[in-house]
Amino acid sequence: MCGIVGYLGKKQAAGALLEGLYRLEYRGYDSAGVAVMDENVIRIVRRKGRVKELECARHLVGNIGIGHTRWATHGSPSEKNAHPHRFGRVVLVHNGIIENAHALKEECLTRGEEFSSETDSEVIAHLIERYLTGDPLLAIKKACERLQGSYALAVLIEGKHAIYLARKKSPLLVGKGEALLVASDLPALGNISHAYALEDGQFALLKGDEIAFYDGELRPVSPKEIAFDREEGEKETLCFEHFMQKEMAEIPAVLARSEVDFATDSRFSDFYRVLCQTEYIQIVACGTAFHAGLCAKEAIERLARISCEVTVASEYRYRDPIVKENTLCIAVSQSGETADTIAAALLSKEKGAHLAALTNVAYSSLTRAADSVLCTNAGREVAVAATKSFNAQLFVLYSVARALAFSRGREAPPMQCFSALAYRALEVAEEVRSWTPFFAAAKSAYFIGRGADYVVALEGSLKLKEISYLPSEGYAAGELKHGTLALLEEGTPVVAIATNEDLAEKTMNAVHEARSRGAQIFLVTTLPGLAAREEHSVLLPPIDEVYSPLISVIPLQKLAYYTALARGNDPDKPRNLAKSVTVE
Ligand code: M6R
Repeated sequence: MCGIVGYLGKKQAAGALLEGLYRLEYRGYDSAGVAVMDENVIRIVRRKGRVKELECARHLVGNIGIGHTRWATHGSPSEKNAHPHRFGRVVLVHNGIIENAHALKEECLTRGEEFSSETDSEVIAHLIERYLTGDPLLAIKKACERLQGSYALAVLIEGKHAIYLARKKSPLLVGKGEALLVASDLPALGNISHAYALEDGQFALLKGDEIAFYDGELRPVSPKEIAFDREEGEKETLCFEHFMQKEMAEIPAVLARSEVDFATDSRFSDFYRVLCQTEYIQIVACGTAFHAGLCAKEAIERLARISCEVTVASEYRYRDPIVKENTLCIAVSQSGETADTIAAALLSKEKGAHLAALTNVAYSSLTRAADSVLCTNAGREVAVAATKSFNAQLFVLYSVARALAFSRGREAPPMQCFSALAYRALEVAEEVRSWTPFFAAAKSAYFIGRGADYVVALEGSLKLKEISYLPSEGYAAGELKHGTLALLEEGTPVVAIATNEDLAEKTMNAVHEARSRGAQIFLVTTLPGLAAREEHSVLLPPIDEVYSPLISVIPLQKLAYYTALARGNDPDKPRNLAKSVTVE
């Protein structure tokens, strides 16, 4: 949610800031702004809309600056609410949420200070300015002590040729190469040789060509260097029109990498010892990652006969969850920065669970909090709609389910060559292009299935809503007749997922009920007999039903993509959303 950048070097800062913002745009894209300092004067340019609206800031002169791309939390998306915010000598960009902003703002108003935005962030500039009597870092520390909530801050002070940083709960990285760079995420750091992460409660000072890190008491500390793949992040959309399209096309390669990683990965072997002692499993996650958790539950309980509870992280964190002895909590998060998932994971750990992070970002906040780390190796995912990361999460979770089964002396169906199956699934899923006119013109859509197919229905529905803006529901096929059937009208699209031979005919009962009420049926199946019966169907290659979500989700990802295009939407950057949800 929101991305921040900073540049201090010998070149003009504006170009580097804009490049960084383009790479961070997935974190929010309702407004953007930069501030560049030259001869002790700070100039700010802000615009409503995407980073391209800010191209006019490229001419700003100065070799030090900060920038921001916003996902609105407090105040509408508008130029006045765009960052950077200025008060007096202080100019700053902020990612996070200040929970006591209202009280602090009241306090500033009684001092006669004026505000120019509706944001929670502007008050931070007021506080820093108030405490700015000597060392700026001390003033920032004093201001931070007044803040409740989360923040990653980059601050410029007029007259000081330096960038000041502070972090609590929101990610903040610093890179060193020809210049010093700041960003919320690694790919936005551009061309660097070293990268460092600020830990929670730390401060940093970028001056000349030096970076100094400080703890919460402003005592110097050694920075935490991050290992990174220099190639990563340079792979752009190449021949694809959209990142989502590219990321779906990468699913076979991601699964092929996972097959290698989890056949030979010694970390996973270490983790096996944890699995041997595990008696209960809790999975916490949000959105698509939550659906991966639900698929894992199906496999874990079936293969290992171990009880597995899956909870949306934003609910888990505000319950008083029961964590029994020998509980393993798996927190699933592509970004590793989702605030609710991190909070839920920490709560489970505090209550005694062994915390395993399943994430795609090895240097993320979730990784740092975890006792064990399982990396998905899906490569950078840019499109807001999660696709390849879901398939990668499923692969690892199924590997965990199998390992748990083996640790209990139980058998598990062999893993097939999933990369080849996914490749075939991508080919046959192109059929859904012919379905899109039905969806593009529809008022709503429904996805139904049973067991793991039901979970895939939930994911297909989420994907469709997210990027096509078509109201949609994922439903347990057997539940349709208990209320939702009333919503079906002539031509309402209903997608049925049927990959489990034992349950398929039961699912088809619900299909017949829906069809009798005028629904237009679309089928995703691995069963040739069923496919032959339906006018609109995708026949997937055979796969053991335990693992079928790995490929049955692919036609639904494509359906959402093509429907978004047919409805004239940008599939990579859906309205109102952001890739990484670092606020509650
Ligand atoms: O980074 P995370 O996996 O923790 O993100 C969780 C959700 O925000 C995410 O899966 C979201 O639901 C996707 N945009 C769905 O496509």
